[in-house]
Amino acid sequence: MSAAARLLSTSLTPGNDVPEVVGGQGVWFELASGQRVVDASNTAAPLGHGHPAIVEAIRRASTAPVVNEGWRWREREQAAEELAAIAFAGEDWVGGVRFFVSASEANDAALALCQALTGRAPVVTRERAYHGGAGLSRDVTVQPQWHGGLSSPSEVAPAPRLATVHELPAPAGARVTGQVDPTAGDEWLEEARTALGQSAAVILDYSQGGIYHSPAYQDLVAALAVESGAYWIADETVTGFGRVGGWFQFQRGGTRPDLVTLGKCMSAGGAAAGAVVLSARVLERLAGSSWQSYSTYRAHPVAMAAIRAHLRASSTEGIFLRANDFDALMLERMSEVARRHPSVARVDGRGMHWTVELHGPDWRTWRGQESAPVATQVAARALEAGALLATSGEQTSLFVAPPLVVSEAELGVVFDALHHGLEGVDELS
Ligand SMILES: Cc1ncc(COP(=O)(O)O)c(C=O)c1O
Repeated sequence: MSAAARLLSTSLTPGNDVPEVVGGQGVWFELASGQRVVDASNTAAPLGHGHPAIVEAIRRASTAPVVNEGWRWREREQAAEELAAIAFAGEDWVGGVRFFVSASEANDAALALCQALTGRAPVVTRERAYHGGAGLSRDVTVQPQWHGGLSSPSEVAPAPRLATVHELPAPAGARVTGQVDPTAGDEWLEEARTALGQSAAVILDYSQGGIYHSPAYQDLVAALAVESGAYWIADETVTGFGRVGGWFQFQRGGTRPDLVTLGKCMSAGGAAAGAVVLSARVLERLAGSSWQSYSTYRAHPVAMAAIRAHLRASSTEGIFLRANDFDALMLERMSEVARRHPSVARVDGRGMHWTVELHGPDWRTWRGQESAPVATQVAARALEAGALLATSGEQTSLFVAPPLVVSEAELGVVFDALHHGLEGVDELS
């Protein structure tokens, strides 16, 4: 058996001849083929690859003792303090912070906590959401390809869910081109109110499945949650720490979450880490009880060092603001993508996270692996032209999310590659 055959994994770009990465510096990946390509769909690397502050922090933390969540570790307390003081500066509703190994684990733990606090088991998300692959986070991952079970060209056998999941309609409008937002009217509100009234929590993220909802949608769902006695969890795994410009997307609305879940980019790719940030109100509800949960590698010293280094570098170098500065340019370049390519059906995004959806099978009809879905064909051609793009496993959509330190010239490489990729499928439309 070859080494590649022994290792099990699922590619984000199905049917692709998956490129082998052998190195990386800045926004660039070096491939085994010798080619250098821009890493154009990686939300775990806001500072790019090999940022000196992250490298140095990890080097220093590698001499730390093997200290698990059960013992105090000063740098863990400092990381929680600095997360609140730097990323959540001015958000005086923030109460406590708990670290996890990943955003999947943080979402599972946050949802379970809401179940315990409300005594209700069902949970609510929105159509086409992705929140992770562990426990309850897998339950609220409702994109059909990420069910945690089996799929083959002839059969799909999803893993059964742990809880009842209600799906709110996705606010799937688009800034550039696409469709009218199905939540623009108020026909969906009554059903949403009923679902929330039965549920422990509603969890909303701000980018997955190419859905970038408005602050108004957030505020509406937040008000429904308050009215129905459900908690609101803002999943900022992707959009946190500057991906859409400013520390968090929830800050664009007027409401504030009960819980915020974090991960992916929080440690700038330096180590596996997730977090749940609790509001002071939720923290008060916990007074007199302890949140019974434990895992060996949570809040590992290397992860704590990487988080602190990321917070410092992002705030002092102004990296968390860069996506704001690039928003107008991205909008212009994405508008050109939509104009030039008949293969493109919908384009939406914010700051430094954009989704390009192509004509082809509707995402709801995903039934199993296909040898080369249309989005994979685009990604393969884009790679030839110098950018590594990913599809999130969907057949007809790609996302563009390079490191936040990307330059305008490097973005030019990404857009040239995207145009080249789309030219290969335009005649199919
Ligand atoms: C919005 C959102 N939440 C949670 C997760 C889970 O993150 P992880 O795979 O790092 O556990 C993801 C991963 O893509 C995500 O996009």
